Amino acid sequence: MTKRIDDLKIVANKRLNNDFFILELRSDTKIPEFKPGQFAQVRVDDSVDTFLRRPISIHDVDYEKNTFKILIQIVGKGTDKLSNLKTGELLNLIYPLGNSFSLPDKGEKVLIVGGGCGIAPLLFLGKYFKANGITPDILLGFRNSARIIEFEEYREIGEVFVTTEDGSEGEKGYVTSHSVFSTRKYDRMCCCGPDSMMKAISAFCKPRNIICEVSLENLMACGIGACLCCVVDSVKGNLCTCIDGPIFNVNDLKW
Ligand SMILES: Cc1cc2nc3c(=O)[nH]c(=O)nc-3n(C[C@H](O)[C@H](O)[C@H](O)COP(=O)(O)OP(=O)(O)OC[C@H]3O[C@@H](n4cnc5c(N)ncnc54)[C@H](O)[C@@H]3O)c2cc1C
Ligand code: FES
Repeated sequence: MTKRIDDLKIVANKRLNNDFFILELRSDTKIPEFKPGQFAQVRVDDSVDTFLRRPISIHDVDYEKNTFKILIQIVGKGTDKLSNLKTGELLNLIYPLGNSFSLPDKGEKVLIVGGGCGIAPLLFLGKYFKANGITPDILLGFRNSARIIEFEEYREIGEVFVTTEDGSEGEKGYVTSHSVFSTRKYDRMCCCGPDSMMKAISAFCKPRNIICEVSLENLMACGIGACLCCVVDSVKGNLCTCIDGPIFNVNDLKW
């Protein structure tokens, strides 16, 4: 897929809570057909501390409006600066980058699992599955009920399960301890979140022959396979997370 560098107009900057915000972006030219799991390299302007672009997933796409959204968690200087962007300002992106989650076969039972900012690529993924005749279950983990975001959007895609660490909503604990793992049978799991979470789900899937794809969030610099700073040690040798990933089948990882 052709990559482009674009100045996109910020149509909206919606604050969801203290940590998360969504930028809705419009291009002057027709946006490409995105694949779920792909990301953009976002330039953070006017800051000496944020020389490198920040990798951010495609969160949602509206082809009719010619817009797409990115969901960002404020964790440092770059994301904090992006959170202050105003409607009408321009944001420079290189996109779409990386590979994508695979499309399940018809009839497969699919569980989508996300935790923290790892939920970012999963809304578009869920919509993509639904548009292709797959209705997934969705399991989302948050620290507490005040941090739950976009619950209703996910409910339009499939059945949604939630965990909170303090038990203020859904089941108490981490996503990996949710009862859905013991009460329902799945053919495939698609995950994005902390490595520890994805490794636990991988360990659950492997002995049961459940297909498991994860989205790695390795640190990145160039995002286009030139600097090798995002290399992951796989059973196929060293792979770049930015071009060979960020989506990997766990059987290809040395987990
Ligand atoms: C393919 C990919 C897709 C991503 N998609 C999203 C997304 O949709 N939404 C989102 O909020 N974040 C996403 N991230 C993570 C995001 O890129 C980082 O949080 C961001 O670059 C941090 O920039 P910063 O300047 O705010 O933080 P910095 O000041 O650079 O760092 C602040 C803290 O965040 C940590 N950090 C920096 N980069 C990463 C990273 N890649 N992964 C985990 N921790 C990191 C640092 O170690 C440090 O502790 C993605 C990462 C990758 C690789
Ligand atoms: S980020 Fe440079 S090679 Fe992947």
